[in-house]
Amino acid sequence: MGKEIAVLLGSPRRGGNTEQMADAFIRGAEKAGHRAVKIYAADRKADCVACGGCYSSEDRPCCRNADFNEIAPVLLRADGIVFATPLYWYDFPGKLKCLIDNMYCFYAAGKDLSHKKAAILSCGEETGNYMMFDGLQRSFELICRVAGWSIADQIYVPGVLEVGAIQRTDGLQRSEALGGHFFG
Ligand SMILES: Cc1cc2nc3c(=O)[nH]c(=O)nc-3n(C[C@H](O)[C@H](O)[C@H](O)COP(=O)(O)O)c2cc1C
Repeated sequence: MGKEIAVLLGSPRRGGNTEQMADAFIRGAEKAGHRAVKIYAADRKADCVACGGCYSSEDRPCCRNADFNEIAPVLLRADGIVFATPLYWYDFPGKLKCLIDNMYCFYAAGKDLSHKKAAILSCGEETGNYMMFDGLQRSFELICRVAGWSIADQIYVPGVLEVGAIQRTDGLQRSEALGGHFFG
């Protein structure tokens, strides 16, 4: 049976390399009978100020960010979570990180997010720096560990700067293939 995947897009650049990777992944997933919901983190107001007001009203995970409360049900019900993100200063871009921070309310309220599959699709400009994705990879793996998500795969593509550069790599083929076998 088809499953649902939330694809969290970290790049503010519409149609850029990361979105192309996300779209390739979604193509693969849809061909396999799944449904994907793309969430543009750069367009959303999300953050966490540690106010402790999580779920102070039953149907509102965050007491401050209406945008996050709109996204929250998608994240809670999704069978899969995919981070599609450019490498910014060796980590998640700030807006996507703010959205991840906002997910603290699930943790604070003891929501069970486990039994989800997760993956990361990322690209960055540098070449010849074998450590460039280390920080992002470690953050992703620790997030999955605490959330109880099993990692389907991780795709990191170096040497990608201007829009469309991803097409000169195998990143799109690998992303589409991952969409097809994401749930095994
Ligand atoms: C604010 C900013 C920070 C970046 N930091 C890095 C970095 O640390 N390492 C790297 O290799 N590329 C870095 N890049 C380059 C992007 O990762 C690269 O251009 C990527 O292809 C952008 O994806 P997009 O087309 O989806 O926007 C940075 C770009 C920006 C705008």
